[in-house]
Amino acid sequence: MTERITKAVIPAAGMGTRFLPATKAMPKEMLPVVDKPAIQYVVEEAVAAGLTDVLMVTGRNKNALENHFDRATELEDALAKKGDTVRLKKVLESTSLADMHYVRQGDPLGLGHAVLRANMHVGMEPFAVLLGDDLIDERDELLSRMLIEQGRRDASIVALMEVPPEQIHLYGAASIEQTGEPDVVRITGMVEKPSADSAPSNYAVIGRYVLKPDVFDVLRVTSPGKGGEIQLTDALKTMAEDVAGTGGVYGVIFRGRRYDTGDKLDYIKAVIQLAVDRPDLGPDLQSWLVGFAARLESR
Ligand code: UTP
Repeated sequence: MTERITKAVIPAAGMGTRFLPATKAMPKEMLPVVDKPAIQYVVEEAVAAGLTDVLMVTGRNKNALENHFDRATELEDALAKKGDTVRLKKVLESTSLADMHYVRQGDPLGLGHAVLRANMHVGMEPFAVLLGDDLIDERDELLSRMLIEQGRRDASIVALMEVPPEQIHLYGAASIEQTGEPDVVRITGMVEKPSADSAPSNYAVIGRYVLKPDVFDVLRVTSPGKGGEIQLTDALKTMAEDVAGTGGVYGVIFRGRRYDTGDKLDYIKAVIQLAVDRPDLGPDLQSWLVGFAARLESR
């Protein structure tokens, strides 16, 4: 076993153009999923997997993100004065989750570039990357399994999910080789956002990674790829092909519930699915949904 991984990097500096105008003055990671911003679910997931140090890579409108994880004394005092301990507890929850750090990306030159900005903070340790707009349901295990595989194999690990062929163009796609262990595969190649015909498989890379620090050296020499951006997928492809020294790249296949909150339709589905499971909202929402669906059917 290698040393315990403690650091999580959360890139949250994207432009969020698919969600304009909501994201004009607010990062998409701050969009509420029921009553919590998406980013808080992601930080909670990192903490649940044992990561205690979180570095957020921020862009324009970074204040909302930083403020959310900081104390809000005026609000806290007002709630305390009213004796509203339930809401006060909710306000305080995000302030003591993890040891939070922030770094600016400057220009949003791509996910690979955002990850490279973490080099100074991460140093030479393996670390996790969690995309701030990708939610993994807390009832389904993923990150802790990836951390175990990283320690066991001394390799970089990505999360994979099987998607319908018509959706693979939205993701990085991996060519894979079985390892003999269920749901763990060796990655032999990767391509960012391929067409359905050219995709090497239907296994899409989703927003969880546990990376060896070698990735920084590779990113430094990775040229802009798809969309003119420095792509993390391109760096991982290099690491997957050049096994010598880097330990290669393995994939943990995830079969649980995932919500892409950067996509409008998926965002709406996420809010509904998570709200239906909530004891305070679920029963009322569910009976309304049933009636609503019946009215849609009869239209
Ligand atoms: P996306 O591919 O979803 O891009 O980024 P985007 O710019 O955020 O959103 P759209 O497509 O314009 O709507 C995937 C993840 O990488 C981060 C984003 O914040 C998101 O978590 N990212 C992307 C950065 O941090 N910096 C970048 O330069 C690009």
